Amino acid sequence: MNDDMLGYLEHLAQQGDFLRIPFGILGSGYFLNHPDLAQQVLLKQAKKFQKIFTVKYTAKGIFGENLFTSDGELWQVLRSIINPAFNAQRFNAYASIMTDYTKIMISQWQPGEVIDIPTAMMDLTLGITSRAFFGEDLRDNQIGQAIIKFIELFSQRISSFPVPIWIPIKSNLEMKRLFALIDNHVGSITVKRRQSGEDYGDILSMLIQAQASDTTGLLTNEQIRNEVLNLFAAGYEVTAHSIAFTLYLISQHPEVEARLLDEINQVVGDKTVTISNLNQMPYLEMVLFESMRLLPVTAVVSRQAIENVVIDDYIIPKNSLVLVAPWTLHRRSDYFPEPLRFDPDRFNSQHKDNIHKFAYLPFSGGPRICIGNAFATMQMRINIAMILQRFKLTSLSDYQLQPIFNFNTRPKNGLPMLTHARKGID
Ligand code: HEM
Repeated sequence: MNDDMLGYLEHLAQQGDFLRIPFGILGSGYFLNHPDLAQQVLLKQAKKFQKIFTVKYTAKGIFGENLFTSDGELWQVLRSIINPAFNAQRFNAYASIMTDYTKIMISQWQPGEVIDIPTAMMDLTLGITSRAFFGEDLRDNQIGQAIIKFIELFSQRISSFPVPIWIPIKSNLEMKRLFALIDNHVGSITVKRRQSGEDYGDILSMLIQAQASDTTGLLTNEQIRNEVLNLFAAGYEVTAHSIAFTLYLISQHPEVEARLLDEINQVVGDKTVTISNLNQMPYLEMVLFESMRLLPVTAVVSRQAIENVVIDDYIIPKNSLVLVAPWTLHRRSDYFPEPLRFDPDRFNSQHKDNIHKFAYLPFSGGPRICIGNAFATMQMRINIAMILQRFKLTSLSDYQLQPIFNFNTRPKNGLPMLTHARKGID
């Protein structure tokens, strides 16, 4: 499991749809690999489950509860406060940040250059996310670097058994140091914002406004800081890797690339992509959806039962861990025939409504579905369309994609790709 989580999940999926797995001192785990079972855990009986111990403990020891880790009342309050940040009317502003930053990135690429796509996409996403959330680009100063390093250490901590944060091992000390830097910076931006009273149209402004009308007392200054950091941690790396996987899959399927380019040329031409263009490019969305099916960055979603839960004829005892794996659900041949084939047409208008809602879970499902899914889907389509307008990307001849699990799915040895010029954009 530790050495090859994705292989382990595939191995489990071959054994059956409902398995009990011994997890040593953590007790029993249950692996549920059928869309109806996933729907029970994530939707129908969602209230009987919470985030697992390691997720809660890892975050709590460092920056306190947040939307990702909390449950019950705190989660409900946070979700309702943060939801408006992802309302459609804010998306015009986010879209122009996304196009501006993509334009800058591709204007710096040289034809014939080999680029590690995940690294480039993480840099791009960090720029976009920090402008959309904080109103400033954090990449150019030490805060951006601190956030990258912090998220890396945090991911390692969350995917292993966490050493209590007060024990002075190297990674704990480093996380504390980085957190202090980030905390200080976010704190001072927040104070300035509050003093100026100005609405910057970003997520930080929105949280500050929500604080003024919050009657629960739960949206404290610390909570605002936690949420901004959490939205970073939850969103930036997964978005970057999803874009990277999609660009790779496009490069491996010339017929898909040709059809996609046709669509982009017809709808956008040489112009800058707009939100209304996105609605006119169904194939772009199909390609992205199929990429997230074949290579879902969140390979597995985990929960802990807070009471005995009855599903079908089985009882999942209180405290058990439950794993629902988009990685294996997306590879069920009864829901996705020839599951290893990259076929965007699975998501065409004729087929997509017939897909069981819980057979396809790149953003999970139910009340805890990813809050950033529309933001990420918009960003990924903008980035992919703009990159393809200007560049053809090919993978290196000796390159073999090897997805591995490290809290999220990513390519084991990066994903270097060669750039070939197509044409300019305005
Ligand atoms: C391709 C990009 C993304 C993927 C694949 C993804 C995937 C997911 C998944 C599977 C979950 C459910 C986790 C669970 O319940 O255990 C989740 C939750 C979450 N995601 Fe995303 N995410 C993406 C982008 C983003 C972005 C851009 C943001 C922030 C702007 C974000 C913020 C969150 C938050 C805060 C949660 C917790 C929501 C809650 O529990 O109420 N995600 N994401």
